[in-house]
Amino acid sequence: MADAFEQIDQLVQTALAELTAAKSAADLESWRIKYLGTKGSVKDLMKLVGTVPKEQKPVMGQKVNGAKDQLTTAFENRQTELGGSQSNSKDAIDVTEPGNRPELGNRHILMKVIDELTELFGRMGFSVAAGPEVEDEFHNFIALNIPKQHPARDPLDNFYLAESEEKSEISNLKLLRTQTSTVQIRVMEKQKPPIRVVIPGKVYRPDTVDQTHLFQFNQLEALVVDKNVTMVDLKSTILQFVKAYFGPDTKVRFRPSFFPFTEPSAEVDVFFEDKQRWIELGGCGMVHPNVLRAVNIDPEEFSGWAFGFGIERIAMRKYAIEDIRLFVENDVRFLRQF
Ligand code: DAH
Repeated sequence: MADAFEQIDQLVQTALAELTAAKSAADLESWRIKYLGTKGSVKDLMKLVGTVPKEQKPVMGQKVNGAKDQLTTAFENRQTELGGSQSNSKDAIDVTEPGNRPELGNRHILMKVIDELTELFGRMGFSVAAGPEVEDEFHNFIALNIPKQHPARDPLDNFYLAESEEKSEISNLKLLRTQTSTVQIRVMEKQKPPIRVVIPGKVYRPDTVDQTHLFQFNQLEALVVDKNVTMVDLKSTILQFVKAYFGPDTKVRFRPSFFPFTEPSAEVDVFFEDKQRWIELGGCGMVHPNVLRAVNIDPEEFSGWAFGFGIERIAMRKYAIEDIRLFVENDVRFLRQF
């Protein structure tokens, strides 16, 4: 019996120690189940009473009941201490425990580059314009002097949307815009010269994805229309931009080219010393008189220039990014670097 008594004392000690260690309502509840529950240790002790000889039962019973009362009282006290059934009472908070640092995100590198570009052009007097990504043929082709038979309108080179049921005289065929030049038209429809805008935006082309191609990318378009605007303005603005953005010693080259909406047209290349090669930024030129006519601006009175550059290309050169796919893969190890 002395053994059994010792066992009971031992259990009480352990239980009390565990009770002191309990810090939350959940801790308390598991403790209650373990010791005072219907299948708990105290219940087992009760069973012990039944196993001892008859004459020892009263003493044993008293001992067990004593233990039970002691634990019940201790439990109730601890419960009060911890603020009733609330787990988050003041005492339960360990102020020395390290906190959970909130995960801070950052802007996507492309968004940062777009901000840098619009800010830079803002300082040169350009405002920012935008237009829809789902376009009609008028804005994507017709007004830009791209006639019906032009290969650029080939369904294989465009994301056309399923034709609307509505029958109408004018084509209501819609497509995802292939160039931000569409917004030149939208701006000129609403605003009369002088015009000086840049247009950053997404464009879509059914290209096979590889290290330098995506089927959706971003362009920065620029449009200037005013009296006496010449190719000199175009060239000097682009030179100024390239030197301000990539560094004062950056070499720029203009190559004669063709675009239906500009005449003359050129392609702009920038030389990158580290690669020892020319990288094409995009096209530019003097706005074609037909384009001005399409938006009721008199080409005898006004002239203009425009360019369209690939923003991913600019970002890749500026930040030494080797693969265009990194922009859309959303790998945080990449995104966190900027
Ligand atoms: N829209 C042309 C393209 O996506 C680029 C371009 C060329 C834009 C000449 C222009 C321009 O504004 O004048 O390939």
